[in-house]
Amino acid sequence: MKYSKKVMQNFMNPKNMGEMKNPDGVGKVGNPVCGDVMWVYIKVKDNKIKDIKFKTFGCAAAIATSSMITQLAKGKTLEQAKKIKRDDVAKSLEGLPPLKMHCSNLASNALKKAIEDYKKNKNKK
Ligand code: FES
Repeated sequence: MKYSKKVMQNFMNPKNMGEMKNPDGVGKVGNPVCGDVMWVYIKVKDNKIKDIKFKTFGCAAAIATSSMITQLAKGKTLEQAKKIKRDDVAKSLEGLPPLKMHCSNLASNALKKAIEDYKKNKNKK
């Protein structure tokens, strides 16, 4: 399987990887295809994603797509961040092998869940 240079860069040197203390929202999703798991943590200020981190037990493509999605989402409004699709991520990574497209669902779905979690927490306050 051949990965693009961008995928390799994001896999070897992922951005925003790790856990976040006191996040405003957390999204967790499992990949039904391979059983891998992904967490996305966000901090929100003025309706924008101020900080974002991810943690995963996924493959190289899952790590690279998460690294990319956190970079795409940072600084965006919640509405803009929710619209980031796996195809946008794949394009920013200069393509993903078709067999690995399902891995990129993890990051975008976890981000959407983190945003929903943030909204739920906010309504509780
Ligand atoms: Fe599981 Fe890619 S094979 S996330």
